[in-house]
Amino acid sequence: MKKQILIDTDPGIDDTLAILLALASPELELKGLSVVCGNCTVDQGVGNALGVLEVLHRQVQVARGADRPLVQPLLIAPETHGGTGIGYARLPVSTFAPIAKRAAEFIIEQVLAAPGQICLVCIGPLTNLAMAIRLEPSIVNAIPEVIIMGGALRHPGNTTPQAEFNVYCDPHAAHIVFHSGLPITLVPLDVTYQAILTQQDVDRLLCLPSPVSRLIADATRFYMEFHDQYQGINGCVINDPLALALAFAPGLVDLGSLYVDVDISGGVSLGNTYADFFHLTENEPNMSVALGVRPREFIELFLERMEGLCRSYPM
Ligand code: RIB
Ligand code: CA
Repeated sequence: MKKQILIDTDPGIDDTLAILLALASPELELKGLSVVCGNCTVDQGVGNALGVLEVLHRQVQVARGADRPLVQPLLIAPETHGGTGIGYARLPVSTFAPIAKRAAEFIIEQVLAAPGQICLVCIGPLTNLAMAIRLEPSIVNAIPEVIIMGGALRHPGNTTPQAEFNVYCDPHAAHIVFHSGLPITLVPLDVTYQAILTQQDVDRLLCLPSPVSRLIADATRFYMEFHDQYQGINGCVINDPLALALAFAPGLVDLGSLYVDVDISGGVSLGNTYADFFHLTENEPNMSVALGVRPREFIELFLERMEGLCRSYPM
């Protein structure tokens, strides 16, 4: 039985790699993509999502979501993902359009149509999911698993010194989701910053001429330039594919049950995510958190799946 998933995404370069991984993994059935502003505007994100699906000639429902956070002003990341959100890659214009239903409604519709069957993988700011929870609180009891790429617990932030991008973009949405009662698995920078894709890894994929390897190479070339220039990293951090991989390979990480909260007080630590490691509060754990990872096992899995995809779509 395939695991049914919905991906909420701000595509984005590493989001694109996560979407490719979902489509390359026989364990998963991708029921739809809901798009949120973040790495790029929501309209750019919808275009990128449709363009990636066009490369693979796959028809998946794409729902347009929030074009700004709940409270914070819009923050996008062209320095990280390029002016289009997809680096140097050039995507085909899609023959498909997004569905009419908005992302929050789409999430509610899909989840309530199949209670207990659809896992959410959230790899962008959590605005769409927060809106869905407020519109229809009963979805909290209908979702068996929510995997969230976000936060930084014992790792520096990547957007402010204390905050990770997805949470910092919309800390109020993250607060709603973190305290919703949803069965959350959090995948923070603490583990994703160990998931480094190198040029050598990409060169391995380029040995298989395919629009897929071309897309990955052109998108990650921009992303690697960013990581080198801004963070002195040789390669690029593929946060979102690691989160997605936990939908079918949870053994890649070591999980801990923790109380995690997010700072919405509005000061210098806005968006800071912190965990009660020493049980200093009266709060019961509200999520599972990935605290350890086997990075090269994950990268090898990712590359094997991408090689399979390249063979399925030869140039
Ligand atoms: O902080 C990393 C996260 O923010 C990733 O999901 C990346 O795509 C950006 O959305
Ligand atoms: Ca993302």
